[in-house]
Amino acid sequence: MIGVFDSGSGGLTILEALHRRMPEQDFLYLGDHANAPYGHRSNERIVELTREGVETLFKAGCSLVILACNTAAAVALRTLQQKWLPRAYPGRRILGVLVPMVEAITGVPWSQEHPGESAAKPTGKTILLFATQKTVNSGAYLEEVAKRAPNIRLVQKACPGLVDAIEGAAGARPLKGLIEGYVQEALEDAGSKPDAALLGCTHFPLARPYFESALPMGMELLSQPNVVATSLEGYLKRHPEFAHKGTGRVRLLTTGKPGDVNLSDSYLPPHLCEFEGPPAKAV
Ligand code: DGL
Repeated sequence: MIGVFDSGSGGLTILEALHRRMPEQDFLYLGDHANAPYGHRSNERIVELTREGVETLFKAGCSLVILACNTAAAVALRTLQQKWLPRAYPGRRILGVLVPMVEAITGVPWSQEHPGESAAKPTGKTILLFATQKTVNSGAYLEEVAKRAPNIRLVQKACPGLVDAIEGAAGARPLKGLIEGYVQEALEDAGSKPDAALLGCTHFPLARPYFESALPMGMELLSQPNVVATSLEGYLKRHPEFAHKGTGRVRLLTTGKPGDVNLSDSYLPPHLCEFEGPPAKAV
């Protein structure tokens, strides 16, 4: 069983793509709605909450957990992988959503931090990155893209309040207004017309149509769910020990109240909208 973790409902956009691409895998999703959004929290608290969430999924039988949250991946993944996992759960794995995106943006494999002079240079382009304030402040995307493809210009746009609006099912009008404002600001910051845009927060694809209509016509909007699904498929081929064939069962757990999770306006299929109550707390 593969675990998928997010601060709330955003990771469902990743889960939906994983389930569609790998229908034979069983997935267990945990949304930490009781503590969402993470964007307002200290880095220390984000590491702690992410560790608790991952541990809950491990204890429920997952051997591999995907952090379907850019904020948790940017702030906590490295610390957990290096300082906690080998000691607490050797043999289990945690993967994030940032690595596949950096690879997709640059065309350079993660392992190749500094492609040599002879390596083919990714063409210079400007990409808009919409993310939470925490992800932007972490500088993780900027740093990792610059190491692999210094001629790619990444224009970051923090979107405070957007995760809260999506979690709170703010409704079409306020969401559209908020997104139009952020897109406008990002286009002004970019100056010339960008080549593509990326939603670097897993909540944002739940409002993807508003981004599409606010961005200049025809601009490519990179899909993080599809990129992550392709990457996980490749990972499971290389590491078949984590690819336990199941029946395609998907269960959704929330640390909050299932009735409070509002996904009524989302495009997600009904079986990806039904949450079960709080899981037993990892100790
Ligand atoms: N879905 C999370 C992300 O991808 C949202 C983080 C938050 O809760 O602020 O960044």
